[in-house]
Amino acid sequence: MGIDEAMRFVDWVRAAAPYFHTFRGKTFVIAFGGEVAQGELMQDLANDCNLLAALGVRLVLVHGARPQIERELARRDQASRYHNGLRITDAAALECVKAAVGVTRIDLEAALSQGLPNTPMAGAFMRITGGNFVTARPLGVVDGVDYHYTGTVRRVIAEEITADLDQQNVVLISNLGVSPSGEIFNLAMEEVAEAVAVALRAEKLIYLCDAPGLLDNEGRLISAITAAEAERKLNAGVGLTEDLHLFLPRAINAVRRGVARAHLLDRDKDGNLLLEFFTRQGVGTMVSREPLHRLRQATIDDVATLLQLLAPLEADGTLVRRGRELIEMEIDRFTLAEHDGVVVGCAALYPFPEEGMAEMACLAVTNEFRRAGLGERLMQHISDRARQAGLRELFVLTTRTEHWFRERGFHEASPDTLPARKRDLYNFQRRSKVYVKTL
Ligand code: ARG
Repeated sequence: MGIDEAMRFVDWVRAAAPYFHTFRGKTFVIAFGGEVAQGELMQDLANDCNLLAALGVRLVLVHGARPQIERELARRDQASRYHNGLRITDAAALECVKAAVGVTRIDLEAALSQGLPNTPMAGAFMRITGGNFVTARPLGVVDGVDYHYTGTVRRVIAEEITADLDQQNVVLISNLGVSPSGEIFNLAMEEVAEAVAVALRAEKLIYLCDAPGLLDNEGRLISAITAAEAERKLNAGVGLTEDLHLFLPRAINAVRRGVARAHLLDRDKDGNLLLEFFTRQGVGTMVSREPLHRLRQATIDDVATLLQLLAPLEADGTLVRRGRELIEMEIDRFTLAEHDGVVVGCAALYPFPEEGMAEMACLAVTNEFRRAGLGERLMQHISDRARQAGLRELFVLTTRTEHWFRERGFHEASPDTLPARKRDLYNFQRRSKVYVKTL
């Protein structure tokens, strides 16, 4: 292994390590349609499930069987009928559903039971369990359409699933539900998954789908979105694939009903689960109740973090060096930008009330998040605070990033216009430029 490759590997493992810790003992519900239950995709999923289970993640898999049901209907010369994206399951169709779901489930169990040949995990064994964990009732007649044996979830017997997970089993749940009168109902797997995730208060609900995730109007992936924003996208209804139409509302419900995070991931890309779970940025769309980014006031506990964040920018001369003491003394002036609980940016506000001015200092965002708009948000926040304090002008001293400020409404001013106290400290050797903006 070359030295670069080795270091990349070490960095990668270190970057992923906090997640090993966070995910241990947490419940993930992974939902996928019957498309995933065949061939290579299933193999990849089985491998990743093995890895997650080895890390102590409590796994619940929920599967559908649409393509398998279609094939079974065709084989028996039965028509396939849908209304509003949901199958109408008459008695004859129910026989096909039972057959197709049964076969799919058996195939899944087999794939999940395979060892990982020729790896240290070859001996890892996942015990797959399942059973009558979901009770159902008929959907009935909707818009004058009788759905017959298409049902809806009545109750998830969470205690039983939990007991199974406590035994380190992986629970596999099919898209069928039983009724107290002994009938079987065909359920939408996305509904089952939502209900199970909510009942278990799962950490994550993951939908493997036919798209990379949710796209914005320019066709770019939306990496993270709040439930409220996602709902707006849903109502606008543009650019949603068939799967997203079905899964997105479920993802939104789930996070509103207590699931920490719901993820929409491309089912066709091997490794997506791992990239999503073990990198900060992920690869799909993550729906959460609260926004992933937030700003907060720094406290004394943040000093070490701040020093770490500023060090590279001080080293290359973008920022003036500040010692630990200075930062400790001035910690109250700092606002931090967090991504997913990790500090990735900061800015500080120094008011000069006599002159009606304020300095924004130390604006910094880590490389990884340069393009996430955090710099703007920090600047906005500092401006707001300055305005609330009755100040009229905001200035910055910069040597390297003047264009950034110019693009945001600052204009160059002479050092003579600085507040007196600041002018005395002005470092003529550094020859910083002064940029000012009216608040
Ligand atoms: N790895 C983290 C998690 O699984 C963050 C994932 C972020 N994903 C995204 N699409 N923005 O919770």
